[in-house]
Amino acid sequence: MNATIKLEKKHFPVLLDELISIISPLYGGTFIDCTFGEGGYSKKILEYKKNSVIAIDRDRDVKTHAEVLKKKFGKRFIFINSTFKEINSINKTNKNIKAAIFDLGYSANQILDYSKGLSFSSKGKLNMKMGINRFSAHETINKLEEEHLKKIFKYFGDEKNANLIAKKIVFERKKRLLQTEDLVKIIETSYKRKYTKSHKSTKVFQALRIFVNQEISQLIYGLINSFKILPVGGYLVFVTFHSIEDRIVKFFFKNYSESSNISRYLPEATHEKKILKLLNKKPIIPTKKEIFLNPPSRSAKLRAIKKIGTYENKMNVFEKYANLLKIENFSKNL
Ligand SMILES: C[S@@+](CC[C@H](N)C(=O)[O-])C[C@H]1O[C@@H](n2cnc3c(N)ncnc32)[C@H](O)[C@@H]1O
Repeated sequence: MNATIKLEKKHFPVLLDELISIISPLYGGTFIDCTFGEGGYSKKILEYKKNSVIAIDRDRDVKTHAEVLKKKFGKRFIFINSTFKEINSINKTNKNIKAAIFDLGYSANQILDYSKGLSFSSKGKLNMKMGINRFSAHETINKLEEEHLKKIFKYFGDEKNANLIAKKIVFERKKRLLQTEDLVKIIETSYKRKYTKSHKSTKVFQALRIFVNQEISQLIYGLINSFKILPVGGYLVFVTFHSIEDRIVKFFFKNYSESSNISRYLPEATHEKKILKLLNKKPIIPTKKEIFLNPPSRSAKLRAIKKIGTYENKMNVFEKYANLLKIENFSKNL
């Protein structure tokens, strides 16, 4: 049984002022909030009276926050319980889309909701399903072969003890179905060092969360689909929290940006069409004050672009990350 302890924490939308200064909501338009969460971004945008927001979130539980905004802002606010993969089904006739915004990851309250099982402090059956999933961490840990588990921990979590942890899991699950506490114990006993900077389970839990929620393909769909629905002149903003996410966003933005040609002596790369303009060469990070008020914001990075050309050719982001997508595809065995 999963513990149903639910601690509520005050939510701080990350890099909110920086986001607002990029998307200029003062002039009116439609904004797509692709990671609604507790509605911090949506609410701020809707406070400017000429705006409407279409918000998306895969987690059904955020509907309670969506209802509050619906009551306050009426027709100007629409919530859709969906994933990044479905973004292109949003009303394409809406010509007034000003920006699409992504604040990746999960809120502190989702992590503290132990029934979701994102935290290594959760108890009982492993879960990690964030909504609209096909399988959970329970099946992943108890069914996937050792080699696949090893790669998930190594490439999605950068876990140095991936081999030993995967080996121990496969050995232990012969005796019983493994639960959250079993996994935490296996990880702890796989480390030689007693003391580590962060909790020993952090990396494996991150890796499992990425795998269960298919976050790599979701992110790539998010980039491509949101770019497609934006009109020329629209803004795309991403706030990322870990290096894999940031690498993918950075690649997409740089590869299709105005300044993507590495050398002026090389011929123009025809496949790398210049369809966007980088608004910041280096990512925007939170101020010391924001980190003090909201410590989890310390790893946030904001990257933003303006669309300057239309999407024509097939974008090569899926090919570029084929190795990571291959690991995600181990899920077909579940
Ligand atoms: C960090 S929270 C966003 C917080 C929000 N900006 C606010 O101020 O309240 C990220 C949200 O994105 C949602 N999310 C993550 N991946 C998603 C995906 N692939 N499709 C749809 N929603 C997703 C999560 O469920 C979570 O609610």
